[in-house]
Amino acid sequence: MKSSPIFLDTKPVAYVIGDGALAYSEKLLDSYPRIIVLVDENVEKHCLPVFREQLPNVNISEVISIRSGEEKKNLDQSVYIWNRLTQAKVDRDALLINLGGGVVSDIGGFVASTFKRGIRFVNYPTSLLGMVDAAIGGKTGVDFGNFKNQVGVFADPDIVVIDPIFLDTLEEKQWQSGFAEVMKYGLILDRELWRWLYGKHFKEIEDWNKIITRAARDKIDIVRHDFREKGIRKNLNYGHTIGHAFETYFLNTGNAVTHGQAIAAGMICEGWLSTEAYELEWKQLQEIVNMFDINFDRLPLSDAHIPELLQLMKQDKKVRGGRLNYSLLRKIGKAIHNIEVDSNLVIESMKFYINN
Ligand SMILES: NC(=O)c1ccc[n+]([C@@H]2O[C@H](COP(=O)([O-])OP(=O)(O)OC[C@H]3O[C@@H](n4cnc5c(N)ncnc54)[C@H](O)[C@@H]3O)[C@@H](O)[C@H]2O)c1
Repeated sequence: MKSSPIFLDTKPVAYVIGDGALAYSEKLLDSYPRIIVLVDENVEKHCLPVFREQLPNVNISEVISIRSGEEKKNLDQSVYIWNRLTQAKVDRDALLINLGGGVVSDIGGFVASTFKRGIRFVNYPTSLLGMVDAAIGGKTGVDFGNFKNQVGVFADPDIVVIDPIFLDTLEEKQWQSGFAEVMKYGLILDRELWRWLYGKHFKEIEDWNKIITRAARDKIDIVRHDFREKGIRKNLNYGHTIGHAFETYFLNTGNAVTHGQAIAAGMICEGWLSTEAYELEWKQLQEIVNMFDINFDRLPLSDAHIPELLQLMKQDKKVRGGRLNYSLLRKIGKAIHNIEVDSNLVIESMKFYINN
């Protein structure tokens, strides 16, 4: 028997989560006089037909389709969307639906919240990463000057609709990518979720509805308490300081890795830092490394890459007064933020990842 979706009216954002969420959401769109949908080409092919079928009474006035991929999450593509909105004479009553993965919700949220000083938008994530992470929490933006998410704004969607129905057509490496973020919630705040996952390859997971609902609610809880990332939300950055440097490095070489591959590697490095610079037990670090190695191949890096990776880290938005702060683990299920770590230890953590 299929469960019904959960409806969370947590102002200013409403969430509909779980099997059946897509169809349920139709009535929530009633009040918007004009609806424009943003997709990328894969989502247009695989998900837009599902959207139309499940929401037959929603009148879409315009579909804007962009090229897929992180390389396209940039200002040029934003200009393209702003132009399309202008040509379609979109006014401030309109709603932009971001139907897609994290690239679509990041760029769509940014474009919507800056167009005419802000039109409303709604996120319908279609990738696992989008469902458990990118579509939730109001961070929007684009990459700029070889740095990820360098230009953007905090802006909340009106509604986020999370329905696993879209995942049937998702490529395996994108499942894997989203799974890294799911594991992260287990590590930073949800020991029970970690227990559900531990020892499994992502392809062995059966009840995705349960896992996605749990992970999405973990993120919602955090961002409701700390939207502007002044405190507890920083815990979500576990694995991301080093992971973003990996992601940017591979993006710049033209051999992009997925977000999840990069931050899985980052979580191994920052797990090691949690042991060396903080209080994570070595046994738990081994458990973490083991779980990531079950699910991810190691990135093709050598010690010679480390200086460049350190340079990239210095551009990270988490740098304050030239110093790098990390979110680390005290133990599995409990994280801590604002831990300053000596750069020699950071180098050692990358060597641990590369050579072990
Ligand atoms: N704003 C945030 O809080 C936040 C958090 C985490 C990640 N992000 C961002 O999210 C992005 C990564 O998100 P992503 O992994 O979803 O990337 P993505 O949007 O590029 O999607 C991955 C690929 O899957 C395709 N796709 C998506 N849904 C599909 C479906 N149902 N069927 C078939 N193909 C589908 C897309 O076309 C794309 O080719 C990065 O830019 C990252 O910086 C943002």
